[in-house]
Amino acid sequence: MAKKDIDWSNLGFDYLKTDYRYVSNFKDGAWDEGEIVTDNNITMSECACVLQYAQTCFEGLKAYTTEDGRIVCFRPDLNAERMAMTAKRLEMPVFDEKRFVDAVVEVVKANEAWVPPFGSGATLYIRPYMFGINSVIGVKPASEYQFRIFTTPVGPYFKGGAKPIVITVSDFDRAAPHGTGNIKAGLNYAMSLHPIMEAHRNGFAENMYLDAATRTKVEETGGANFIFVTKDGTIVTPKSDSILPSITRRSLMTVAEDILGMKVEHREVYFDEVKDFAECGLCGTAAVISPVGKIVHGDQEIAFPSGMEEMGPTIKKLYDTLTGIQMGKIEGPEGWVKTIM
Ligand code: PLP
Ligand code: COI
Repeated sequence: MAKKDIDWSNLGFDYLKTDYRYVSNFKDGAWDEGEIVTDNNITMSECACVLQYAQTCFEGLKAYTTEDGRIVCFRPDLNAERMAMTAKRLEMPVFDEKRFVDAVVEVVKANEAWVPPFGSGATLYIRPYMFGINSVIGVKPASEYQFRIFTTPVGPYFKGGAKPIVITVSDFDRAAPHGTGNIKAGLNYAMSLHPIMEAHRNGFAENMYLDAATRTKVEETGGANFIFVTKDGTIVTPKSDSILPSITRRSLMTVAEDILGMKVEHREVYFDEVKDFAECGLCGTAAVISPVGKIVHGDQEIAFPSGMEEMGPTIKKLYDTLTGIQMGKIEGPEGWVKTIM
């Protein structure tokens, strides 16, 4: 199939309408069979639960073209599993996990012409999401839902691609203990819009959030988990019940330990320790691994020895191995890469 005429290498992380999307509706206690449609608009009641009470959640994964011309995606079963967990916490019906993966396959196949070519630096971002669609005025969950998946070709999440970014420690909290920080609810992102705009107005690319209870421990950013490297090469990732269990972070821990033979620690990380790390990166589907060169907290500045010009050597090794697996150049653990076509 002929690819779309797009300058793939210069894409940012923006929405571009592709030809097809997947839709399934939940009504009278059951999901319908679902279908691929062309219309990217949604019509709903002014009183839809999603509009009034933000009953919405989403996922994010990517499709890649491999060197040998296949189209693959990375661990979609884990996105399905996480969306099920999110749905339960938000009193939404679970969209069957196998059907989720089948729908991802179907919508990517339909949009084959939009999947960026191998080596272009771009990928097809896949956005599954679900929301309460019927009218609800008392505070209660909807009884009707829509599950949809759209796709959009994307480049790097942060301008400058693999160049290290400067981030700041937010004065705002992202997630409360026992709150919703560990699920992918739209509300977690709504609350981050003001802090991220403040960060941008102050010249920073992202926010580091600290734990809300003590403000002494590193949590995550608005859209990625942290990964640190100690001076002796150990990988350290923050553990907390109020951060999103990143699929990229979990995969990187396996890559580091089982493939690269590195030491990995998943534990609470105090902000006071951060100045002693050698490298820092943000990891996630959109962020891949984006290196952090500097963290500013009030008048304290932490500049990592890896500098502002390029990724540190350990993060580069992790990046090359993970993206090598995702693009089919390196054999990963069984079941990680799903061939779509
Ligand atoms: N943390 C937050 C708040 C996110 O929105 C994301 C993105 O999905 C991540 C972490 C990274 O998760 P994953 O690696 O599963 O994309
Ligand atoms: C992702 O990495 O898929 C995310 O959802 C993060 C952000 C774009 C919201």
